[in-house]
Amino acid sequence: MDILSLLQANFLSLILGVIVFVLFWKNRGTQSNFERLPPGPPPAPIVGNLFQIDLKEPYLYYRELCKKYGPVCTIWLANKPVVILSGYQTIKDALVLQGEEFNGRAQYPLLVRSTNGHGVMVSSGHRWRELRRFSIMTLKNFGMGRRSVEERVQEEARSLVKAFNEYEGAVFNPKELLCNAVSNVICSIVFGHRFEYKDPQFLLLYDTVNSYFDVLSSPLGSLYNIFPKIVEWIPGKHKDMFALLQKSHDYVKNQAEIRLKHLDANSTPRDYIEAFMIKTIQEKDMPNSEFHYDNLLGSVWNLFSAGTETTSSTLRQMILMMIKHPHIQARVQKEIDEVVGQDRSPSMDDRSKMAYTDAVIHEVQRNMDLAPTSVPHKVTVDTEFKNYHIPKDTMVLPLLSSVLSDPKLWKNPGHFDPENFLDEEGRFKKNDAFLAFGLGKRNCLGEGLARMELFLFTSSLLQRFTFVGTKPPEEIDTTPKCCSFGRLPCVYDCYAKLRV
Ligand code: HEM
Repeated sequence: MDILSLLQANFLSLILGVIVFVLFWKNRGTQSNFERLPPGPPPAPIVGNLFQIDLKEPYLYYRELCKKYGPVCTIWLANKPVVILSGYQTIKDALVLQGEEFNGRAQYPLLVRSTNGHGVMVSSGHRWRELRRFSIMTLKNFGMGRRSVEERVQEEARSLVKAFNEYEGAVFNPKELLCNAVSNVICSIVFGHRFEYKDPQFLLLYDTVNSYFDVLSSPLGSLYNIFPKIVEWIPGKHKDMFALLQKSHDYVKNQAEIRLKHLDANSTPRDYIEAFMIKTIQEKDMPNSEFHYDNLLGSVWNLFSAGTETTSSTLRQMILMMIKHPHIQARVQKEIDEVVGQDRSPSMDDRSKMAYTDAVIHEVQRNMDLAPTSVPHKVTVDTEFKNYHIPKDTMVLPLLSSVLSDPKLWKNPGHFDPENFLDEEGRFKKNDAFLAFGLGKRNCLGEGLARMELFLFTSSLLQRFTFVGTKPPEEIDTTPKCCSFGRLPCVYDCYAKLRV
């Protein structure tokens, strides 16, 4: 070997040595970063704990893990750690006491892809704070918890009662009508008016939300969230869903452009889109402004996707529970008759006088446990929590389910029992452990609207109808069906019998 070859060989060995050293060092850094993670089952190489998790009911597996490893534990989804938080105190300590660290939103691929990372629900940090403040303020200005939205919900409730009545006591599946009504409430906030249920634009938005949840709750959706790059290339219903989503975004953008023509920075907004476009005009010279089309389309989609399936599924479960428990249905109707009567629409002022109805609505939500693992959070910085170290950007799942079913916190957690929300005198009893809407600064942004809808739709329907099933109550299984993101009511038909 001549001297040149010898030098080249040494040089190559040196480069290889440096690469191996850097990889080792980098890996060593990563390993040591994970060394003080909360405990959990040992992960297999590459797949982690994926094969131990029942993708259909992951929260049940998480609950078991927390019994074994304690209220803070770790599982591995492929090569990514996920920290599970269980129990009221642990969730509160994280989301409230250390909220700044725990209130990031994990990058769940389907959520992120649906808005290309824009909008209030998927963002963190500055963008999230700006969009959240704006959305809450705008919903408040349009009367979330005040008159004007209340009137819109009442109007929609009357349309819903009319639509149920058209079945004239015949058997039907209430799902579509309930989704229409709830979706239309969001429409009237976002676009400033409700739609006829057969309107093509309304059907586009409606079909998009349905298709989105269909994918989200399927095994394909779970796989997409774990291996997005691979599933993105596989043909399947997610492709149709993304196409519909694009059409809905185009429609919203077109509506924004129409409004922009007559708006100036001092206009009084009449709907969410107008309010957003006014901010866009006001901040047009600010280079870091979050008020642009992408965040508008993302946030509008977040309101639709987060506000429709959740509220309508709860109402569907409500009707099913009334069918299953006719004596509870009769007691709610008695209260409605005493407080509201039959001659006017129920209003939010009635709620404080209707403790039993309020307790039944809360109990439906508690018992149904719609979002057992909430919407995934992440820690925004390296975080010390309960003597563990959770590296920046680790996904965190608050196990809301563990709180809603905790025997230490509820009178009768294993059964559907409105007494869980009543005191000895029959007054409504608030319980801090009612975490159906999450906890802390990242809790549900539409809670006020959802509560209003649940009360007004439930009381309007039970004012007019008695719900009866197609089988005797004792044969009805009311257990919600679990899918990757939540627990949804099972499919059922019913009769809505006009009360006389
Ligand atoms: C029964 C009805 C509802 C339930 C049970 C529910 C529950 C939840 C839960 C558990 C979260 C996650 C909280 C967290 O990340 O810690 C959430 C977030 C959210 N919800 Fe709701 N929700 C409901 C209705 C609504 C409605 C009607 C709207 C729209 C007006 C809405 C809009 C949102 C948004 C935008 C977020 C994300 C907030 C953020 O990331 O800052 N939700 N909801």
